[in-house]
Amino acid sequence: MATIYEEIHSQVEKRRTFAIISHPDAGKTTLTEKLLLFGGAIRMAGEVKSRKAKKFATSDWMQIEKERGISVTSSAMQFKYQGQHINILDTPGHQDFSEDTYRTLTAADSAVMLLDAAKGVETQTIKLFKVCSQRGIPIFTFINKMDRYGKEPLDLLEELELVLGIRSCPMNWPIGMGDEFCGIYDRQNHRIEMYRQDGQRDFIYPDQRGVEDPSIRDVIGDSLYNKLCEDIALLDIAGDPFDQEKISQGKLTPVYFGSAISKFGVQTFLDEFLQLAPAPHAHMSSIGPVDTVKTAFSGFIFKIQANMNPAHRDRIAFLRVCSGKFERGMAVNHVRSGKKIKLAQPQQFLAQDRDIVDEAYPGDIIGLHDAGNFRIGDTLCAEGSFKFERLPQFPPEHFARVINLNAMKSKQFQKGENQLVEEGTVQAFRTTDRTADLILGVVGELQFEVFSYRLKAEYGADIRLQRLPYQLARWVAAENRIEVSKLSNLSSLCVTDQDDRIVVLCESEFALRWLVEKNADLTFYASAYELDDHHELSNAT
Ligand code: G4P
Repeated sequence: MATIYEEIHSQVEKRRTFAIISHPDAGKTTLTEKLLLFGGAIRMAGEVKSRKAKKFATSDWMQIEKERGISVTSSAMQFKYQGQHINILDTPGHQDFSEDTYRTLTAADSAVMLLDAAKGVETQTIKLFKVCSQRGIPIFTFINKMDRYGKEPLDLLEELELVLGIRSCPMNWPIGMGDEFCGIYDRQNHRIEMYRQDGQRDFIYPDQRGVEDPSIRDVIGDSLYNKLCEDIALLDIAGDPFDQEKISQGKLTPVYFGSAISKFGVQTFLDEFLQLAPAPHAHMSSIGPVDTVKTAFSGFIFKIQANMNPAHRDRIAFLRVCSGKFERGMAVNHVRSGKKIKLAQPQQFLAQDRDIVDEAYPGDIIGLHDAGNFRIGDTLCAEGSFKFERLPQFPPEHFARVINLNAMKSKQFQKGENQLVEEGTVQAFRTTDRTADLILGVVGELQFEVFSYRLKAEYGADIRLQRLPYQLARWVAAENRIEVSKLSNLSSLCVTDQDDRIVVLCESEFALRWLVEKNADLTFYASAYELDDHHELSNAT
């Protein structure tokens, strides 16, 4: 009989947990849907035909997402394919993104970077790429929409290097594009996959001469054949060779071409991705790396979301399992509070359906019902009391004063505000004067809209947001809190954050420099973490 370690080990090896990063419209929804289809997760095949149809697609939970056709919140989906358990973390694709996106990436072991062949590397992709690249996770590139005319494939590879600074290794190579798109030459398996729009697969296997096999010419015609031979010869000589180690370190990205809308190239991509992408591995913690197999169940919360299902007013904390075996009903240590918590009704997500899970293994994402106990970044562990590395924190760059338009609904307003702040979609500050006005800080401006919308839709509270001119926030270490009020002036405002730390909001770097010079006795920190570290250090000495 397999020991528990053997069981966990074999489950870990079967798991792949990744995020798809892309710019809006590159085809992320389409690709996600096709991937889910392979796993039989979505029974009804059907392309994303229109924005209207997209309303019902996969991971769009919130009304606002549906209306705007964008994915505002990140979600997690699991499907099985050929014995593997695949967890896809959905990251919001809109230009204005939030900390949520970044945090979701901390739960991924690898990333799929999806590009539109006509647009190449776009702004949102650059931002998301940077976060993945800082974490050193492997990044796989899928270049989409080859059925349309786009940039030259060689130019796209160059763009990856020039714009993102990553070397690439094309695993397959397109034959033509747009109306002339014939298929892809698979450099690993030495075969041609002929383009078909109906989702069926059709291969040609050249003889030992590979791409030089003249019978290919008969199928694709002279001009595409000549170009294919030239391109492949060039890649063989001048391109980066396949190097698994570099891929694992995120220094080389394997590149695949395809057309998600017709499923073309998607299965080949999925098959190879599953072989090359890493299984879950040890996460860093306060006691060092946490072994996925030998450490009892542990995980961290990377996202909290309320009211996913308006019919049940619930709040779900998303936990990434990092080690051991999770079993329903188990009692675990909630490290921040020091309390034991019973995890009674964990859920897993499959497109829009939720299932109760009885067990989960490292790499899995489970949703925990949350009565307000959890915070983003919390560690849960069955044994001991260690903490996983802190999730990255991003200072807000946009600020607005919140005016409650309906005093009769102030209770609902309060409830909604607390909830949304705890979800981490916005940061809340209070002015230090008697009015204690609520000021919101966000990383991406869209969060203001999401905040107003959700307050109204979920709590019935009407608000107006008065935009403020501040652009940066600094946390201040001060012995004397009264003295700090002098930080407010024409171009800065003194406030407190959710945990009552002193924060100053400034209109510009210039205004901040002025404050720093005038207040040499105070220390300014770029984040709450930095301030807390400072306090921990000074308490320790
Ligand atoms: P997103 O989630 O990244 O924002 O992109 P989404 O999948 O919604 O795709 C954006 C648009 O690109 C959609 O078209 C979709 O049909 C189209 N698309 C996705 N993959 C491919 C592909 O491989 N080839 C081609 N030609 N188009 C693709 P739309 O105009 O926004 O909507 P509609 O055409 O479906 O009405």
